[in-house]
Amino acid sequence: MSLQLPNFSLKKRKLQSLNLALVLVHDVLLAGGIQAGDGPVKQAVLRHKTRLRSELQRIKVKRGVKSDKELANPGDERAARIPRYVRVNTLLWTTEEAIAHYQKQGFRVSDPFSSQESFTRDQHVPDLLLFNPHMQFHNDIQYKTGRIILQDKASCFPAIILNPPCSEHAVVIDATAAPGNKTSHLSALMGGKGKLYAIERDRKRFSTLKTMLAKASCKNVETINIDFLNVDPSDPKYANTTHILLDPSCSGSGIVNRLDHLLESENEEHEEQEERLNKLATFQLNVIRHAMKCLPRVRRIAYSTCSIYSIENEGVVCKALRSEEAGRSNFKLAPPEEVLPSWHRRGLLDESESPENALSSVRCSPNEDATNGFFVSCFVSDRTQAAHSGDDITTKKRKRDRESSRKKRKPVE
Ligand SMILES: *[C@@H]1O[C@H](CO)[C@@H](O)[C@H](O)[C@H]1NC(C)=O
Ligand SMILES: *[C@@H]1O[C@H](CO)[C@@H](O)[C@H](O)[C@H]1NC(C)=O
Repeated sequence: MSLQLPNFSLKKRKLQSLNLALVLVHDVLLAGGIQAGDGPVKQAVLRHKTRLRSELQRIKVKRGVKSDKELANPGDERAARIPRYVRVNTLLWTTEEAIAHYQKQGFRVSDPFSSQESFTRDQHVPDLLLFNPHMQFHNDIQYKTGRIILQDKASCFPAIILNPPCSEHAVVIDATAAPGNKTSHLSALMGGKGKLYAIERDRKRFSTLKTMLAKASCKNVETINIDFLNVDPSDPKYANTTHILLDPSCSGSGIVNRLDHLLESENEEHEEQEERLNKLATFQLNVIRHAMKCLPRVRRIAYSTCSIYSIENEGVVCKALRSEEAGRSNFKLAPPEEVLPSWHRRGLLDESESPENALSSVRCSPNEDATNGFFVSCFVSDRTQAAHSGDDITTKKRKRDRESSRKKRKPVE
């Protein structure tokens, strides 16, 4: 019961071309055509179009389903239980204005699953709205003009947990920025003030990033097409950076609605998968270590993945905490009360260095939390050089606001 890829000279089976092939096969069979530029893999997929279509048909018959859609979610009704998340871009209007706008359009505030016209505010992420899963916003003028951003709830956590300063002196880096949802969120939390460097190494993704940020009117952002690992620590332009968001490449194993399950598991042997995860974890660790060592005033680094595997999450965090770089600058994990305390699901105890460290991380379970699978931790350094940079006032103010809202027993953040 799997999608057998025709054996088009994928002898070496380089994972990269396999992944590309999968995307292209998806495009041919389910998305109505290939958008990607020409190349040998595309040619091969197109050559076998007919055969691929009949394989897909065969799978549908075997599974007793009629439509491609039914095929996408076998036992993955998860997708249907995930609301359509809409983040209000507060650089352009307020959440109150957005709510009033949608009410005027005929929506009413109530449980988003009760009807297509219902929506509500999220309990954990300010400025996030929950609509019915069937709602589409791609033709909504608010989406087209960047006033709303379609962003999964879990992927809103890193920027909130990083808690960037909102001041003219703020200097923040988004080290792996494309496609730009989190970058635009950071920019909004910074009130469009100070400086946000959005770094992306991949040229294509970089151009997506620029388009996205322009659409969202992120005026305090400078985009830079380099590899964060090559950022020169002595470059004066980054010298005052205090906060870094790290959301490096990961296995993507938390993403709901992927079609990987259609693949025969032999396509990736257990060992192959382990090797791939180890490679990713090494890369992720290197990115964190670089962030810790490279800039003298950095005191807060949020690390996130959309993976469910502890090797990419708690495992990487443990190694990062034991690294020379962490030791030198005294990086620890931010205490639980600074890491979305209102969120119930925390890091895995067995995979963390201490119970406190497990509590200092958040996880999202794709099965239980109506989000993609996700992980966030936040490293903090008690270096004090940045104490005079002016942003502490806002941090303190926010903390006060948070505390007073906690007293009112409202959900925090
Ligand atoms: C990022 O934004 C785009 C466009 O709004 C959306 O299609 C995509 O799903 C978003 N990604 C996540 C992880 O939310
Ligand atoms: C960094 O901040 C200091 C003041 O804290 C300022 O004098 C200096 O010009 C800033 N450096 C850059 C590159 O902006």
